[in-house]
Amino acid sequence: MEKPKFKTVQEVIAAGEGLPERYLHTPNGDGESQPLNGSVPEMDIPAIDLSLLISSSEDGREELSKLHLALSTWGVVQVMNHGITEAFLDKIYELTKQFFALPTEEKQRGAREIGSIQGYGNDMILSDDQVLDWIDRLYLTTYPEDQRKLQFWPEIPFGFRESLHEYTIKQQQVIEIFFKAMARSLGLEENCFLDMYGENATMDTRFNMYPPCPRPDKVLGVKPHADGSAFTLLLPDKDVEGLQFLKDDKWYKAPLVPNTILINVGDQIEIMSNGIYKSPVHRVVTNREKERISVATFCIPGADKEIQPADGLVSEARPRLYKTVKKYVELYFDYYQQGRRPIEAAL
Ligand code: SIN
Ligand code: FE2
Repeated sequence: MEKPKFKTVQEVIAAGEGLPERYLHTPNGDGESQPLNGSVPEMDIPAIDLSLLISSSEDGREELSKLHLALSTWGVVQVMNHGITEAFLDKIYELTKQFFALPTEEKQRGAREIGSIQGYGNDMILSDDQVLDWIDRLYLTTYPEDQRKLQFWPEIPFGFRESLHEYTIKQQQVIEIFFKAMARSLGLEENCFLDMYGENATMDTRFNMYPPCPRPDKVLGVKPHADGSAFTLLLPDKDVEGLQFLKDDKWYKAPLVPNTILINVGDQIEIMSNGIYKSPVHRVVTNREKERISVATFCIPGADKEIQPADGLVSEARPRLYKTVKKYVELYFDYYQQGRRPIEAAL
């Protein structure tokens, strides 16, 4: 359960009391620590044409093999031709910016309560010795509609609620196509993963704001983690870099490609794909001058559903790597809180 409320990063800055120790990553035991904001190469991930993933043409097959290669090496792709207009994505981005620019009292109207994840607040504080992330966020369940907690949905900026509703519907089409394409790219029947995702699947959207940070060499926007979702749709900032992925023990930065949605595999697709598709470890670095905005939607299988490696992906040559799990996100937070790697909950 979360410890009592802490200041948001924007409140820390406004208080003008300097940078609290709790945000500083200290050197490892060997005394050596790389500055967290050192330069890193850009990752080489394809932009996948979502409209081709539903086609059985030669181009469609090629796109599926691009998807297979990217998800089995990086666990990340960017998708274009996703059916959501650039103007609409811009609107979501602008509304997010406007929300975080509101006065504190206005944002606090939807403040997160102790012990609950939904609402406006800072990094969730799960333990006393946790190094805090330099991030303020608004976390909202958007689907199914009867699970929305509207008391946390901002009424200002004007149009926020309607646009989030619309964004949720638009994302559902992307999610369905993506689930089917992943299954087909692995030679499975196209509904194989969607069936495990289920009718009672949840979508949670987290609006993230990373204010400029005085010590980007020692402070992270989000510390390294893999997502507990099936997969995550991310609208990264249009201009400000920050998101990085780990591959073979090296960090790579995600490229900024206008009008694309970044999709990263989460632990639950790693489990369903018997480890063929990777749930990548990623982090967000901070920036001294610029604020950064992002909007992440977590696609979470229904609480009534059992998740397990698809039968077609288990063989003598490739033994089953994960056990059957239910309500993985709860296990995920349990393990995370104990300082353990969440996916171990499924080993
Ligand atoms: C996250 O993975 O938690 C945030 C990603 C981002 O802000 O780009
Ligand atoms: Fe993440």
